Amino acid sequence: MQVVLFGATGMVGQGVLRECLLDPDVESVVSVGRGATGHYHPKLLELEHSNFLDFSAIENQLQGFDACFFCLGVSSAGMSEENYEQVTYGFTIAAARALVPFDPKMTFIYVSGAGTDSTEHGRSMWARVKGKTENELRRLPFRAAYMFRPGLIVPLHGIRSKTRVYRLLYMLLGPLLPLLKGRFPKYVTTTEQIGRAMLKVAKHGWPKPVLETSDINEV
Ligand SMILES: NC(=O)c1ccc[n+]([C@@H]2O[C@H](COP(=O)([O-])OP(=O)(O)OC[C@H]3O[C@@H](n4cnc5c(N)ncnc54)[C@H](OP(=O)(O)O)[C@@H]3O)[C@@H](O)[C@H]2O)c1
Repeated sequence: MQVVLFGATGMVGQGVLRECLLDPDVESVVSVGRGATGHYHPKLLELEHSNFLDFSAIENQLQGFDACFFCLGVSSAGMSEENYEQVTYGFTIAAARALVPFDPKMTFIYVSGAGTDSTEHGRSMWARVKGKTENELRRLPFRAAYMFRPGLIVPLHGIRSKTRVYRLLYMLLGPLLPLLKGRFPKYVTTTEQIGRAMLKVAKHGWPKPVLETSDINEV
């Protein structure tokens, strides 16, 4: 399997990259990011790119993939709706539209979030924008598109979030996280479970296009 990965430097993306590199079915991973991941592995190729609204400069390298794992994203905390929408909807859809003409057999998996608003009209800004992004992805002619909606994510294997609010949250929750995971398995997952679930869904599909935390853990 050939994988293209966005957001490999982030908390979720690092977990997904780790599982991809460990999986013998994955022949190669192309990571697209504005900086390097710091990982060196014979299966990993890094493409540095700066304009995430326009992928034409690297479009000839965005071909031949079986799966795209889109883990790029930001917290909406302190962001205007316009800026949050540009990163969340704009970057994701620009990447998907760049991939779809070359890779129509691809499975696209998007990391959304628990509480995403599919109606696009609710009161929560981030949830509306994630909902709009999910809805647009599902309209694009990929072989399949899946929306992962994790709740709380426990970072494993030394992985840390790049987002300050999340880092603070994890620092405060720290030792409670494994306990919370045991107590609330429907709401808590891990970076490892997300990565492994993405690989399994990309290989074998899943009956539902939207996977909540409990589905991710079940996969
Ligand atoms: N963490 C959680 O508990 C949690 C829970 C539910 C859902 N999610 C969702 O999961 C996704 C990933 O979250 P995360 O925790 O992995 O975030 P993170 O650690 O902050 O990583 C964000 C990733 O997105 C990239 N990125 C952010 N802004 C960018 C920009 N302007 N241009 C290019 N790349 C940019 C970062 O690249 P750089 O290294 O270049 O900054 C990094 O690879 C988000 O959509 C988030 O909403 C997270």
